[in-house]
Amino acid sequence: MSHEKRRILTGITTSGTPHLGNYVGAIRPAIAASRRADAESFYFLADYHALIKTGDPARVQQSTLEIAASWLACGLDPDTVHFYRQSDIPEIPELTWFLTCVTAKGLLNRAHAYKAAVDQNNAAGEDADAGITAGLYMYPVLMAADILVFNAHEVPVGRDQIQHIEMARDIGQRFNHLYGGDWFTLPEARIEGNVATLPGTDGRKMSKSYDNTIPLWLPAKDLRKAILGIVTDSRAPGEAKDPDTSNIFAIYQAFASADETAAMRRAFADGIAWGEAKQALFERIDAELAPMRERYEALVAEPERIERLLLDGARRVREIGSPFLRRLRDAVGIRPLDELHAKGGRESRDRASARGPSPQIKSYREADGKFHFKLDAGDGSVLLQSRAFDSPKDAGRLAAALVDAGDDAHAIAALLPQCVTTDAPALPTGAIVAALAQLKADKLVKAARKA
Ligand code: TRP
Repeated sequence: MSHEKRRILTGITTSGTPHLGNYVGAIRPAIAASRRADAESFYFLADYHALIKTGDPARVQQSTLEIAASWLACGLDPDTVHFYRQSDIPEIPELTWFLTCVTAKGLLNRAHAYKAAVDQNNAAGEDADAGITAGLYMYPVLMAADILVFNAHEVPVGRDQIQHIEMARDIGQRFNHLYGGDWFTLPEARIEGNVATLPGTDGRKMSKSYDNTIPLWLPAKDLRKAILGIVTDSRAPGEAKDPDTSNIFAIYQAFASADETAAMRRAFADGIAWGEAKQALFERIDAELAPMRERYEALVAEPERIERLLLDGARRVREIGSPFLRRLRDAVGIRPLDELHAKGGRESRDRASARGPSPQIKSYREADGKFHFKLDAGDGSVLLQSRAFDSPKDAGRLAAALVDAGDDAHAIAALLPQCVTTDAPALPTGAIVAALAQLKADKLVKAARKA
């Protein structure tokens, strides 16, 4: 299948309870983006990633339920968006292993999260890898598999995740190179430029690690209490206040329309009391969240409905992932043994005739709709894998020209640059000439028999 639509994919680690910062910075913009007509969206619950962060099983399960219910309550439409749970897709761990085997260990040594953990150990005078699991170390490979398994084009993430997307590109590119083909689309990070990072109750960025979050689904009464607890300066009622340094104003802006924001800016200049500003902030947020909160509560009360929905989502994306993994297995050589000798088999050896392996040229079409050919030595090894051609005729003509060049090494050397991309690895020219010589001889023998 060639994908006409841009594939947008992102994962949410299921290790916590969604807070206002998650809503404004991730959930709301992602749901808006999922309504883009030119996009095919993949949103998933990254529960394997959660295991890297927590060893608390109840928390992983509870968080999975809360996050799934949150996205649905906020308007994610599982009929138009692929919504699934990572651990329901066995293709992801399988691909993780294939990618692990082509990933440079040195690349993972440079991952920010791993390096920060090592630095902390060093600073504390501990062994460099003390308390660091291989899971943390391998985090970027699992994430690359999440992305590459569905050949996503764009990955909306926070800035802290950019390096992971770059690593996914590196890893995908390396696999493409080593296994000769455009197996993986190389993804790009998309950083939402205009989404706000919300300040938390203490004025620093709202984040679980600062313990300054306001949970998204607090009952209205508790939400109000949490908002009243946000730190402000000590300016008295009637004193003009600076909206641009105010946490209250920053949060208000993330929820309000342009008109409402302008009105609040004036109220600040006019010396609105903090208590009054906080009450207005609470009302504004509650107006947006209240209908969703009701849906959320109904959803978490029915976990079996969410479970069914996720399993259905998994079934549908596996229709994409599972055939792809079959092709990748084949690419790396994990293949049924009975195909080895089968007549017309992929890389059949011609042992029956005692004259040794017979090379073959095979044409095929890739998932992207482009045409390719490859030259098999006949012993299971691929000597030449062509670049993509738009037209089957162009691919066919070039393949035929190679065979006709036969054992003319010069003619073959002149044709080879047209067969591969400029950045392709060095070709085994000697073996190619030998194989083509035999192909030409076979062709002449067959022609002679016919005549
Ligand atoms: N690592 C991401 C985070 O902590 C979550 C994640 C897992 C993810 N797999 C992904 C994000 C794939 C984007 C694509 O935010």
